[in-house]
Amino acid sequence: MSQVAAITPALPLLKRSSRGMHRRICAAPGAGKTRITARLLMLWDAMIELPLIAIDPIGALSDDFLDAVDRLPPDIRRGVSERITYVNVAGQEVETDSGHETYVHPFPILYRADGESLYSVAYRYLSVIERAFPALQSAGILGMPAVASIGENVIMALVAMGCGITEARDLLLNTERWEGRLRSAREAEPEAAPAIDYLLGEYKAMKPEERRRETLSFLRRISMFHLDPVLRAQYGAAAPSFTLKQVVDERRCVLFDFRNVLNLEQRRLGILWLYQYCNTYFRARGPQGKHQPLAFYIDELGYLLPSGKERDKLIAGDLSDLFSLYGRNNGVWVTVIHQDLQQFDEATNVLLSRLGGQLLGASADVKGAREIAERFFRFNKHQIKGLEPVYTTIEGVVHHIDDRKVYQSPQEQNIEHGYRFLDLEQFHFLLGVARREGQLPTHLDHVSFAAFDRGKFARGTVVDELRTLLMIRDGQRVSSIHEELAARLSGGDDRVRVAHAASPPDDQPPPSRRRWDTEDEI
Ligand SMILES: Nc1ncnc2c1ncn2[C@@H]1O[C@H](COP(=O)(O)OP(=O)(O)O)[C@@H](O)[C@H]1O
Ligand SMILES: [Mg+2]
Repeated sequence: MSQVAAITPALPLLKRSSRGMHRRICAAPGAGKTRITARLLMLWDAMIELPLIAIDPIGALSDDFLDAVDRLPPDIRRGVSERITYVNVAGQEVETDSGHETYVHPFPILYRADGESLYSVAYRYLSVIERAFPALQSAGILGMPAVASIGENVIMALVAMGCGITEARDLLLNTERWEGRLRSAREAEPEAAPAIDYLLGEYKAMKPEERRRETLSFLRRISMFHLDPVLRAQYGAAAPSFTLKQVVDERRCVLFDFRNVLNLEQRRLGILWLYQYCNTYFRARGPQGKHQPLAFYIDELGYLLPSGKERDKLIAGDLSDLFSLYGRNNGVWVTVIHQDLQQFDEATNVLLSRLGGQLLGASADVKGAREIAERFFRFNKHQIKGLEPVYTTIEGVVHHIDDRKVYQSPQEQNIEHGYRFLDLEQFHFLLGVARREGQLPTHLDHVSFAAFDRGKFARGTVVDELRTLLMIRDGQRVSSIHEELAARLSGGDDRVRVAHAASPPDDQPPPSRRRWDTEDEI
């Protein structure tokens, strides 16, 4: 690496010894958080072949990372680029000779891992709904209980039949047509019997008006899978594009880019779903995971956890478990990026301030800056703020006979230390890193990344080309997933789908120029 001097300030952050205690990067917009994370921290992890998963709510992280990889010397780049999986969550539209084609990486909502109970599968999704629509928690009987009571039965029945969330609507609206399949699933999956009995008994016996009332809340939460063809492919496919175990085994570097999910409700649902999907795996890998750590990055944490004093108990609780419990124990090294020292509820702010790596940039939050300053900068009782003249009067004449030192009070020192955050320029940070596992960072050092990748910014056209190439290389075509979904809805055999979905069809024209396959220097 030719930039040794420029990355020196980051070295304490790169050490393995404190990574298990996680890192947070906090600074005002434009301070350089995403840039340093993508071009330095993530690139480092990718080069040392640490498996990596990044949640990128706005796309900036992916742009900087792909741009930085593109600028690597070709022999190093090849090793990294082969392991990159870029996921444009909203699907990547590609012009082909025959028109448009959209590529996605499916992450089925009703995916059942080996040995998982139907109930766990159902609750993984219902818990995402609960988090994504906080209003449901306080909507009484029409809220979460209404969604869950019908949702758990429908989902368990669907999973037992090998179906996806995309069939939920049809199952509820045309239950009679599903009788045969429901009965066979009941035989094959005794765990689903109560759910199927409910659908074929109590639910089927309801009058249309009663059914409508029973299903209204749930159907509203899943209407997007019916209305949006890309979401239908993305979340309805039979198998995930890749499993997280594969990510670890193959030391992949996966970017989940939400930039094109323009509807904010859907973006939040998508991010929560992904987060839940990752969490299930992080928990399941157990302490064995420590032998093969993986890096987990979240840019703009505010997209996952709502900002403000109001505590979103469920999500805050998930994060706290990740940081304090199984993240550390199961070898998941988390890095979160956010904007304000006091951005979240009190407990989350404290939790973030106790992570092992703290990279703190410019802040306009005076109170937050003082609180952090109080923790990291010790009171210096010898700090003089000035001299005070001492006078005496001799025979009616005033004489200045001495100067007395005046010391700063703890409060005054704290105010001054707080200003250090307010005065930080772009790419300048205060850095604190725990020396070893179990310790907290005890002081902050001023570091500058101004010389790092100076003048190198994400080049829009290059990055767009790479995003397209990567989605074509690794993604699946929406049209072929739709064919599978149609076959599944009509009761066709759905077991053959997984195999053919992964291989690109013959008529796919090769991308015009495979940027990373060439030896050219850029
Ligand atoms: N093409 C460019 N030319 C000059 N400056 C740029 C360019 N692209 C981004 N920047 C600057 O890089 C800075 C750091 O961006 P970034 O790391 O994304 O900030 P943030 O802390 O909000 O994540 C921004 O303040 C922006 O002004
Ligand atoms: Mg940013």
